Amino acid sequence: MRLCVFGVGYLGATHAACMAELGHEVLGVDIDKAKLASLEAGTVPFYEPGLEEILVRNQEAGRLRFTDSYAEAAEFGEAHFLGVGTPQKRGEYAADLSYVDSVVENLAPLLTGPTVIFGKSTVPVGTAARLGARLREIAPAGAEVELAWNPEFLREGFAIEDTLHPDRVVLGVADDSTRSEQVAREIYADILAEGMPFLVTDLATSEMVKTAANAFLATKISFINAMAELCEAAGADVTVLADAIGQDARIGRKFLNAGLGFGGGCLPKDIRAFMARAGELGADQALTFLREVDNINMRRRTRMVELAREAVGNSLLGARVAVLGAAFKPNSDDVRDSPALNVAGQIQLQGAAVTVFDPKAMENSRRLFPTLTYAESVVDACQGADVVLLLTEWAEFRQLTPADLDSVVREKYIIDGRNCLTPSQWRDAGWKYRGLGRP
Ligand code: UDX
Repeated sequence: MRLCVFGVGYLGATHAACMAELGHEVLGVDIDKAKLASLEAGTVPFYEPGLEEILVRNQEAGRLRFTDSYAEAAEFGEAHFLGVGTPQKRGEYAADLSYVDSVVENLAPLLTGPTVIFGKSTVPVGTAARLGARLREIAPAGAEVELAWNPEFLREGFAIEDTLHPDRVVLGVADDSTRSEQVAREIYADILAEGMPFLVTDLATSEMVKTAANAFLATKISFINAMAELCEAAGADVTVLADAIGQDARIGRKFLNAGLGFGGGCLPKDIRAFMARAGELGADQALTFLREVDNINMRRRTRMVELAREAVGNSLLGARVAVLGAAFKPNSDDVRDSPALNVAGQIQLQGAAVTVFDPKAMENSRRLFPTLTYAESVVDACQGADVVLLLTEWAEFRQLTPADLDSVVREKYIIDGRNCLTPSQWRDAGWKYRGLGRP
């Protein structure tokens, strides 16, 4: 099929490339000329393992192109995907829907024949119904334009795998829809042939599946981090606790890694937008627990700063602090709401000289926090450090041994913000080791 994908950020660029990989002819559409130029030149403007290969392969095969022309897109596409961002509004919990609205307002007047628009962005429940009505109102093709919602669950770092082999496909369709499901089945034929669940729902349920899933994941992480707080008070070990409760199949071990907590472009803003939407719907009590989930998460960052301060004799003034990790999680260069950078910034504000190293997120970090010092390598970052903070669990950091840093640091003190090192290995080598939620 001929498909358009509006928005070529993390979500849209991946979706466009993966749809071409499935054999469709795809046009990626964006208003950001720099992003388009980069993709046209075969370069992915962010770090996502495997994406560049798929991008280039499909460009060379003539199945994948990019444009900023909505007219060209309307002419070309048999179906359209909406993959633009829905960031948190400034100073509010609610999601900013201006990018989604803008695509609909600009595309709809150009739609003269039958088509389906599949929303993929994470939106507050009720958005799809509103956009569907608006489309009928302003598209010349009127009711021949259908709007369906097809939420995206991809994780950064595993975006290709999650798009081509998802664990479920969810499709919300309007009550009067005649073609959305059939068109989706055609587009995703190869994916669905693998036999994963294909859940067709009403529009509101499909929008909520996404926010509910992210709220659950955030809650799971904050649950184990609350246990970490208790473990710290009681002298217990949260990593062993997680292994033990995770054995229960009803609980499961995944997403029970205690540490610095969650960040990124999704979980934090999605739980806040979910709370805001619940309030608008008069059901705010149902989600007040998410405020606590958010609080627990943010407290981990404060705790990390406290531990760093304790490590250097209760004042960060003039201390040298090495920060390993800036991305919000490994295998990503994304620093949006990154716990690591947040901690680095707070420590610097308290008067320490902070040196940061991250395998992939240096450029993005520099843009966001230009006043931090950036190093070329782990060893470079740890030179003369009074304390080393491991804040993102990149494989390169997990594999560090005391011998790598023994002669580099000023004080042998490491704080493991992701509980990804073996404490005994460091202690046996004469280091002081602290983990979050460990004795
Ligand atoms: C998330 C959802 O997983 C995905 O389904 C959705 O589409 C978008 O949001 P992503 O933001 O890429 O994906 O990251 P994810 O792997 O979920 O991690 C989120 C955060 O939680 C990271 O900061 C990570 O470090 C943290 N985390 C994760 C923990 O602190 N502990 C864990 O056990 C797991």
